[in-house]
Amino acid sequence: MSTSSTLNILFAASEAAPLIKTGGLADVAGSLPAALRELGHDVRLVLPAYPQTIEKIGELTTVATLKLGGYQQPINILSSLLDNGVPCYLVDAPEYFSRQGNPYLAPNGHEWGDNAERFALFCRAIIAIGQNRSQLKWQPDLIHCNDWQTGLVAPLLSTEPNRPATLFTIHNLAYQGLFEQSTFNRLALPEELWTLHGLEFHDQLSYIKGGIVYSDRVNTVSPTYAQEVLTTEFGYGLEGLLSHRTNHFSGIINGIDYQEWNPTHDSRIHHHYDHTSFQLKQLNKKALQAHFNLPQKPNAPLFGYIGRLVEQKGVDLILQIIPGIIDRGGQVVMLGSGEAKLEKAMQEMHKKFPEQTGLFIGYDEDLAHQVEAGCDAFLMPSRFEPCGLNQIYSLRYGTVPIVRHTGGLADTVVDVTPETLADGSATGFHFDEASSSALWGAVERALDFYQHSRSHWQRLAITGMQQDLSWASSAEHYQTLYIKALADLEEC
Ligand code: ADP
Ligand code: GLC
Repeated sequence: MSTSSTLNILFAASEAAPLIKTGGLADVAGSLPAALRELGHDVRLVLPAYPQTIEKIGELTTVATLKLGGYQQPINILSSLLDNGVPCYLVDAPEYFSRQGNPYLAPNGHEWGDNAERFALFCRAIIAIGQNRSQLKWQPDLIHCNDWQTGLVAPLLSTEPNRPATLFTIHNLAYQGLFEQSTFNRLALPEELWTLHGLEFHDQLSYIKGGIVYSDRVNTVSPTYAQEVLTTEFGYGLEGLLSHRTNHFSGIINGIDYQEWNPTHDSRIHHHYDHTSFQLKQLNKKALQAHFNLPQKPNAPLFGYIGRLVEQKGVDLILQIIPGIIDRGGQVVMLGSGEAKLEKAMQEMHKKFPEQTGLFIGYDEDLAHQVEAGCDAFLMPSRFEPCGLNQIYSLRYGTVPIVRHTGGLADTVVDVTPETLADGSATGFHFDEASSSALWGAVERALDFYQHSRSHWQRLAITGMQQDLSWASSAEHYQTLYIKALADLEEC
């Protein structure tokens, strides 16, 4: 180990903002390492060298060349210091990663056919760095792995002497990295890993199971989701295993990047504001209405949605209640991309109500910030949500979140009740059942609140803006978990 108080941490992820992003994992990998560095730890990020990432970073140095067993080509490790002060390593294996587009999906929307190979190679490179076989002259005390793409690190390391400790963070249990048994053989993984207590999951190879079984500690991204995944409804067949590891499994809520998401200086929004100048938010609303060609009515409650268009997010529930919102004089703007049938349904809704809805199908970082700054309320009716970041961004931008009571949504938004209004803790609206009528119940409560008293609404929004949503406290929880993982390793 480096010294007792300063840890060397290798933070491994398949995406990190602003270098490459498909969802919230990128936000976390782009900000948590910097927060941990502020606590004094030497945290370094490792990512695959996607072409977009290489292009975004610009200046890179080749710091090592790995010769990995089973791979013909040597693999370069490129390095750079990121703007946020975090050293970053890129695993440069052009055969696997030099492809345009999404890190996981081919242009036809299907997963790349060799994802198992791609991320097995990534894991092997992480291990080479972790075991100091890479000429970097730096060895981590702990490797912090994230999601299934890094799921083979802990199992492959488990038999090595003098290994670093491992933490595996589950950002979404729905994505497991499942492949046929023949893939296991093709990847030449050690035979002893193919057991019910190892990588085998109902006759398939499961990357996520590898992370859960073999890591010293496992966590997920909110305390409520950590409870939910122990049930059959949310556990996808892994609830038994997670329950078995319950002494080594916990939930830590995500923080957000306070530099990137800050209405007082966000360069992507039109007008800056904070809780003392809340009325200026109205100018962002006007700009957003103009952007989407909506009538610029200051009193029309403006609802927003941003996110991947997948069943998880409950976008179909939003579509069902849009006519109701419009009946009450509201407007809705939506930004997202994903499943073709949801994209189509959104386009049809927009065609039906062009004067009351705004739609952008695609990925647009600037617009995401403008939606957060310009809306009055944010809709997040997720069927499940390990943490969720947009409701947290909404709180920060004084955009009142309306959320389903699940996962990180339940942990970050305080429902309006007589009690929470009286003690001043209310920040948004909850509903329980994953149905359009339950969502409508919460939206109606919000509309009543908005239309009844704008100063009460403002108080709600400002309470949200004043929450501490930074990484400060969660980074300390991760630090504690690292120390526990190191202690577990020592006990082995
Ligand atoms: P998930 O990781 O499940 O997609 P999160 O709420 O944790 O959900 O994070 C989603 C992140 O991706 C947020 O930063 C959100 O702003 C961003 N995002 C999602 N879809 C889009 C989009 N179409 N355009 C811009 N940003 C998007
Ligand atoms: C996942 C989850 C989301 C979470 C994000 C970052 O993609 O779906 O809820 O916020 O990871 O941890």
